[in-house]
Amino acid sequence: MTETNVKKILKIDSSASKASSITRKLGDEAIQRLTREHPGAELIERDLSKGIKLLDESWVQANLTNPVERNQEQQQVLAHSDQLVEEIKSADVIVITAPVYNFSIPASLKAWVDMICRAGLTFGYTEKGPQGFLNDRPVYLIMASGGVPFGSPVDFASGYLRHILGFIGIQDVRTVFAEATNNNAESEKDALNMMDKWLPYEVTAVA
Ligand SMILES: Cc1cc2nc3c(=O)[nH]c(=O)nc-3n(C[C@H](O)[C@H](O)[C@H](O)COP(=O)(O)O)c2cc1C
Repeated sequence: MTETNVKKILKIDSSASKASSITRKLGDEAIQRLTREHPGAELIERDLSKGIKLLDESWVQANLTNPVERNQEQQQVLAHSDQLVEEIKSADVIVITAPVYNFSIPASLKAWVDMICRAGLTFGYTEKGPQGFLNDRPVYLIMASGGVPFGSPVDFASGYLRHILGFIGIQDVRTVFAEATNNNAESEKDALNMMDKWLPYEVTAVA
């Protein structure tokens, strides 16, 4: 599971909660293990609870305009999205933390998805249908739910995120789930056990 030549790690948090957030805590643990494994890697942190733009008409029009024909205003409209695309494209490893909200993902994370799914940049239409443009890379998908079992018919969150990552070319999704945090006292421990599979403590503890 250990990657070589990891220069950049991108961490994306989406819980509205801060200090009490289970997904943020698990995400921090994953980052600690990753940075011990890759001490020279740069860490980019994108906390979506601090704000993310939503699509609007000017964004859609600017995005539909041929890049070489975009005026200054349109370039400005897309600048935030361009930056988020650059962050994910340049990351060798990505950690995404996400609670289940109302059976799906936090709205901020959906807004991020809207900002990074860009025809011509992260995916393209080909004769065989849409194709992801990003090279595959590991994504640690760290999620928590209060009661919804992951993979169940009412989990509209984890499958969606996996699909979106696949849509832009990323298949190597490594899940860590804290399931049913409301009534399972072991959920965090179970999640750490899942993390051990991808990021064994022994590997990082030696460093
Ligand atoms: C606004 C809101 C909506 C939620 N909706 C659901 C839900 O539909 N299903 C579920 O299982 N848990 C739901 N939960 C519970 C969270 O998924 C759970 O508490 C999780 O541990 C939160 O992660 P965090 O501690 O990182 O914020 C909801 C929590 C909040 C705050």
